[in-house]
Amino acid sequence: MKYLIGNHKMNLSGSELTAYFKELKKVAKQSENYVGVCVPYVYLPLANKMCKKSKVHFGSQNMYFQPKGAFTGEISANMLKEFNTELVILGHSERRALFGETDELINQKLITTLKEGFTPILCIGETKEERESKQTNKVLKKQLVGALKGVEASALNKMFFAYEPVWAIGTGISATKQDAEKTIKHVKETIAKLYDLTNLDNIIVLYGGSLNSKNVNDILSQPHIDGGLIGGASLKVDEFKKLIDYKG
Ligand code: PGA
Repeated sequence: MKYLIGNHKMNLSGSELTAYFKELKKVAKQSENYVGVCVPYVYLPLANKMCKKSKVHFGSQNMYFQPKGAFTGEISANMLKEFNTELVILGHSERRALFGETDELINQKLITTLKEGFTPILCIGETKEERESKQTNKVLKKQLVGALKGVEASALNKMFFAYEPVWAIGTGISATKQDAEKTIKHVKETIAKLYDLTNLDNIIVLYGGSLNSKNVNDILSQPHIDGGLIGGASLKVDEFKKLIDYKG
């Protein structure tokens, strides 16, 4: 089984999403894979209503770590729970680059999501410059160490990791299957080392960055890649279906 999770970012409208969920539920029902979608906060009530009793898992694209208070524009765990939100994307490169999120903030959010029973999707990834200067493994390790500070080993199988090279996001240029496999294997080994684990099986790492119907077979057939976090190709059910239908 593979995990196919859509990250809608700031795209579909409520009426588009209503039609989308109707179709996606049928697709998910026929699939052996795990299907998820992360929508803007305001559409969580809609997702909750439409995905109830279906195989579609849904979530938000962020969350704040404080329970309540003077945090204009932010959203709390309890607010998300009110609509049965399951998944929470954390540390997406757009949040890091455009909204200044640091490893320290992402760590606080990760601890809160785990404590509150969500399934976080922790995103990590290097920029083009970091890749070209051969800093990829160093950058990923720093992001992992920063985000996982104080997180127990027992939480590792209650979350997803998503390796998303920044240069591949929304560009149409995905990592090659060899590169994605090599880096994801390294990510798993890095996490295992941090926790003194010998077994990599409980660490689920998705690939993200221009995953689409043309490259999905190549990338998901790699042994250490457990699924995908999908932006552009998740916005239309017809296209997303081609990824969801992946058979390993
Ligand atoms: P993309 O986005 O599939 O459009 O490259 C992936 C992501 O940002 O999660």
